[in-house]
Amino acid sequence: MCGIVGYVGPKSSLEVLLGGLRRLEYRGYDSAGVSIIAPGGQLETRKKAGKLDNLIAEITSHPLPIANIGIGHTRWATHGAPTDGNAHPHLGGPTSKLSLIHNGIIENFSELKAELLALGTKFNSETDSEVAAHLIAREFDKTGDLPTAFANVVQRLHGAFTILVIHEDQPDVVLAARRNAPLVIGLGDGENFLGSDVAAFVEHTKRAISVGQDEIVILRADSIEIRTFDGVPVIPVEFTVDWDASAASKGGWSSFMAKEIADQPQAVADTLMGRLNSDGSVRLSEIDGLSADDILNIDRIIMVACGTASYACDVAKYAIEKYSRIPVQVELSHEFRYRDPIVTKNTLIVAVSQSGETMDTLMATRYAKEQGAKVLAICNTQGATLARESDAVIYTHAGPEVAVASTKALTAQITAGFLLALFLGAGRKQLATDELHGLGRQLLKMPALVTEVINNLDLARQLGKDMANAKSVLFLGRNVGFPIAMEGALKLKELAYIHAEGFAAGELKHGPIALIEEGQPVIVIVPSQRDADSLHPKVISNIQEIRARGAKVIAVAEAGDTEVAQYAEHVIYVPKSQSMFAPILTVIPLQVFALELSTAKGLDVDQPRNLAKSVTVE
Ligand code: G6P
Repeated sequence: MCGIVGYVGPKSSLEVLLGGLRRLEYRGYDSAGVSIIAPGGQLETRKKAGKLDNLIAEITSHPLPIANIGIGHTRWATHGAPTDGNAHPHLGGPTSKLSLIHNGIIENFSELKAELLALGTKFNSETDSEVAAHLIAREFDKTGDLPTAFANVVQRLHGAFTILVIHEDQPDVVLAARRNAPLVIGLGDGENFLGSDVAAFVEHTKRAISVGQDEIVILRADSIEIRTFDGVPVIPVEFTVDWDASAASKGGWSSFMAKEIADQPQAVADTLMGRLNSDGSVRLSEIDGLSADDILNIDRIIMVACGTASYACDVAKYAIEKYSRIPVQVELSHEFRYRDPIVTKNTLIVAVSQSGETMDTLMATRYAKEQGAKVLAICNTQGATLARESDAVIYTHAGPEVAVASTKALTAQITAGFLLALFLGAGRKQLATDELHGLGRQLLKMPALVTEVINNLDLARQLGKDMANAKSVLFLGRNVGFPIAMEGALKLKELAYIHAEGFAAGELKHGPIALIEEGQPVIVIVPSQRDADSLHPKVISNIQEIRARGAKVIAVAEAGDTEVAQYAEHVIYVPKSQSMFAPILTVIPLQVFALELSTAKGLDVDQPRNLAKSVTVE
């Protein structure tokens, strides 16, 4: 996890680094730090436990000189508590002329540390990272060549790392290495950048290069060189970042989460853009690599993801199975990877990840590829490892998501899942043309319907405020409403730190109903009444069962559903839509409910305790 940023060029490196760290703070906020080298001057470092604001206060009281090169880090602690001493950067060598930042875990650090201790090295932290700083400093003292010293050491490290290094004796170069952790280069005019993802530098440049596995970058203001760990030159492939720089700033919103909730009509519209013709037919040129035969040969789809993204998979499963008749299994990536799953060359793995850097999901897809399966990614971040390592990518175009709790990425992932379902339905000839086009036209209506939901959130907001003292909230749903119930509960756990659980409404009577006592709030996602085979009557029965036992029911229901109002204390209405697509609407009041409840408790909605947005360790 941890965010890393590097810069060399004419601008004030401190400003570039702090701007980049602000955008990467979602990756971890246990501590932050920077090192810079002023022209003709010494290496200087400031670091502080806690959020980035603590570092900024530290720099205000102990200012840094103007410099044009530097590295910065925001930490999600693994080895060593979140203290000032364990904050990065770490200095290497007896004269502390080398500064290093690290994202990942160096698995063989204890043996390397023992080696250094035997040589008399003094350590200043409990981190695994500091060993690398000392090893590179020593190697540089021996070889006198920083890139060679760097390469010699990174080859000895096991585990996952992105490492950035600067050295006072070579004040024009930033060195970087990548293995199993993300690293992207930003190409400027007479300046260059490094970041954990493109958000780090998107305000300065949209030209980027994604660094491959086991590669080293030698970054100067006017040149970049990429080599493998073994020294073989790599020809870089440039891409253009399509994120709008302003999308990564809060604007006038109270939080990134509030802004990102409001971004959802755009996120859904942009994810659909160019992929649905006006007649409703689907175009997914990204997966042109899958031939008609490949599609016919798929005998099973396994969707892998973690956290909120896994609920997008749960929703997509209903659509893919219904429209394409291909069996779909949804698996948490970490469970899938380590249970000897059955994967063949006819299995299509669909890996869903906002960041494209979640290590659990990367490990699951690598394993599946080793078994011969094709991997299709649904990913929000260009240049991400998952996108690089997959056979094809459907990008969600939600724009940068900064709040740790995922909102617009989820609705964009669900949208992409529906597109995939229609695409496969067409490819497998399971949907008649009229039906396919009709569904496509319904999907095209979703951005406008999302706007309607966003404009009618007062009740969800008020309920969130009123329920700030709730100790537990339960969520119920059936069919596509079930994953939304799970997501509603996850949002509340993440943001408000209260007990919350999502259940399949039909499962309640098999156990969880024992939890219901007088006054227990239960939020129920109610399906549309309009479908011939609607589950509406069954959900109404489920509501009756819990009301009879004292539950206070809040329903999320479709406009025009007057029946539910008789059984619920409150009804949050969402507009009528194709019932398969309703999750894109029903999840939004739950996001806002969690945001308001958390805010009413005085908590930080963008950076909840103990979490990081991008979990790059297993
Ligand atoms: C972390 C975040 C979640 C996110 C999950 C998957 O747990 O806190 O908000 O849903 O990772 O992230 P991904 O980037 O793979 O979608």
